Amino acid sequence: MIILGIESSCDETAAAIVKDGREVLANVVSSQIKIHEKFGGVVPEVAAREHLNSIIPVIKEVYEKANIKPDEIDAFASTVGPGLVGCLLVGMNAAKTLSLIHNKPYLGVNHLSAHVSANFINTNLEPPFLCLLVSGGHSQIIYVKDYDKQEIIAQTIDDAVGEVYDKVARLCSIPYPGGILLDKMAHSGNKNAFKFPQAKVGEDEFSFSGLKTAVLREVKKFSPDKLPKEDIAASFQNCIADTLINKLVNFANKLNCKKIALAGGVAANSELRLRMEELKQKGYDTYAPELKYCTDNASMVASCAYFNPIKTDNSLLLEVFSRG
Ligand code: KG4
Ligand code: ZN
Repeated sequence: MIILGIESSCDETAAAIVKDGREVLANVVSSQIKIHEKFGGVVPEVAAREHLNSIIPVIKEVYEKANIKPDEIDAFASTVGPGLVGCLLVGMNAAKTLSLIHNKPYLGVNHLSAHVSANFINTNLEPPFLCLLVSGGHSQIIYVKDYDKQEIIAQTIDDAVGEVYDKVARLCSIPYPGGILLDKMAHSGNKNAFKFPQAKVGEDEFSFSGLKTAVLREVKKFSPDKLPKEDIAASFQNCIADTLINKLVNFANKLNCKKIALAGGVAANSELRLRMEELKQKGYDTYAPELKYCTDNASMVASCAYFNPIKTDNSLLLEVFSRG
């Protein structure tokens, strides 16, 4: 089954054509980073307008790259939510229109489930497994019992990990997109320079707002030109990785589920990926999507449409939603 997927939930306009949920025939992403850079973050209305400009060229390009004609597509899919409503509408209406024109099904996809599906691309991964999903909007541990049975067993009670990365980056005057630059900076810092606290919360909870405040307290002790950004980045990154990986491993042991995966934009983080490699050496069966399938992309949408589309009697009546 060949699915054309579209992703437009935030600041990437993306289209991909994927066969049987695992084999990517073409993957196109048009990023808006340059446009939002000057605002220091994503401006929803600007993002939605930009999706309108990019959506048709991106779809044309994906057909060309895959060397596939529209009548060879078996279904059209898009992210329905959670995300920015004005942005989601662009992708969803494009996919629904293609489905009507070519008389093929439309499949709606949940953005979080799509991030999980990134782990199916180019792998033989099968449920059950545990997935640590860390993105700009969410931080969760999901117990993927089956392709369409995904249970959230832990989640943040305040900020999402990606959000904290971006906020700490801003505190250190690191430009947007902060997360990835902070990760790079951490490589030249000392991770033991600062001792940042791990939140004391319930077994099924994460909390990162205290960490953010602790970083702010340290930043304030320095004049901007003397700020040891690299050391702060390394210590912060180490604290986040400890918190996330400890909880993931605790659940893996408790549920006797040694198959574990990473997902979401922060799954691109070098420290988290290193920790997963270490767990592999210890006998865990670990997975992390290729970097280009960690941050928002449409291959994960097409894969999710194959394995776990939103169940509904009439998918053409699906409405976009902002929170999930
Ligand atoms: O999944 P994603 O592309 O969009 C959402 O669904 O939110 O995630 C974006 C988030 C941003 O907060 C970005 O700073 C963070 O992922 N991110 C990273 C890295 N690459 C992207 N955070 C830490 N280290 C990275 N290498
Ligand atoms: Zn995302």
